[in-house]
Amino acid sequence: MISSFSMERKISKKKDYLQFVLGIFAAMKITRNARLIGHNTMGIDAMADCIVEWASADELIPLLDELERPMLAIGQGSNLVFMDDFHGTVLVSAVRDIELLGQDDSSVLVKVGSGFVWDDFVTYAVLNGWWGVENLTAIPGQVGAAAVQNIGAYGQESSDCIETVMAISLEDGSRREFSRDECRYAYRQSIFKNELKGKYAISHVIFRLGLKPAPKLSYGNLSQKVEALGGATLANISRAVREIRAEKLPDPAILGNAGSFFMNPVIPAEQYKSLLAQYPDMPSYTAQSGMVKVPAGWLIEHAGWKGRSLGPAAVYEKQALVLVNTGGATGQDIMALANAITASVKEKYGITLNPEANLI
Ligand code: EPU
Repeated sequence: MISSFSMERKISKKKDYLQFVLGIFAAMKITRNARLIGHNTMGIDAMADCIVEWASADELIPLLDELERPMLAIGQGSNLVFMDDFHGTVLVSAVRDIELLGQDDSSVLVKVGSGFVWDDFVTYAVLNGWWGVENLTAIPGQVGAAAVQNIGAYGQESSDCIETVMAISLEDGSRREFSRDECRYAYRQSIFKNELKGKYAISHVIFRLGLKPAPKLSYGNLSQKVEALGGATLANISRAVREIRAEKLPDPAILGNAGSFFMNPVIPAEQYKSLLAQYPDMPSYTAQSGMVKVPAGWLIEHAGWKGRSLGPAAVYEKQALVLVNTGGATGQDIMALANAITASVKEKYGITLNPEANLI
């Protein structure tokens, strides 16, 4: 049996070691009993036992053994809902280097730190004349999260351009590179959200971006907006997307939110056909064969939820897919609203909504 003295000694030895390591790696920041409010765009005021901001793999790896488990790797927390205080270590990436690895006639290969702000990376790509991420303008979050979440908008997904994901095992500190195939990307899915959830922290993402114009303008009214700005240049596409998003989506700096709270459900084509007979306006997108993707925002709005609130959690008035924190909401408040919406959509349409946001 371990005596309480030896337990205390062990803990204090751990603390000594932490202080020592901290001294060496001044760039790293370790905060105990830390508030998470600045680390999630939903603005939930939960606590973490420890938050570690790390700026390189070399900094993080020697420390891993000493950190309290479980560990949760996050970026800006733009897709997270903390249901409770987090008892463990939250790893916040501050890896912000960017490097051009190579170039050929048609593309560039660029390595980007996981803590690089996603929208800054898009701007960097647009200014350099690199195609592939312009439709993903103004999405909150960081590069590492974009590789976990496979962010998507207006007909582009981050996985379209991802060549390699560089990661650190949280179990043994080993480094591993995942090819795009190994990441198993699908609509808002990757291996990092499924089989390997919680097992790796991403340090860098390597993107292959095109040098030849390849505008993707088929989504919604994007092509009209781009034409009105003067044609399909990278700058105009990026600006058009920024304007469309600003019209529909709340700025998390002003109103806490985690972007689309639910994924758009994919249902059997037969089920869609019978729903269409009853609801002729129900929109749809093509999905894998025999299936149809239905916009969750439409289902939620037409189940009467747009603009409604339940305590301090509300359905955003301009886009029903987004749940917002109107002030002081806890994760439980957000989930109470999400559960009520899910039950109501299920009852009305027989469709089950699944959260896109990561519930912690
Ligand atoms: N709709 C409604 N009511 C609403 C919202 C949407 O009827 O309140 C209808 C729209 O009229 C339209 C359809 O739903 O017919 C689609 O709406 P929108 O173009 O706004 O896109 P979305 O399907 O609601 C998805 C992504 C967004 C992304 C947009 C544009 C998901 C879960 N969401 O939303 O991504 O910006 O397409 O590509 O796939 C995010 O993931 O956080 C996010 C914002």
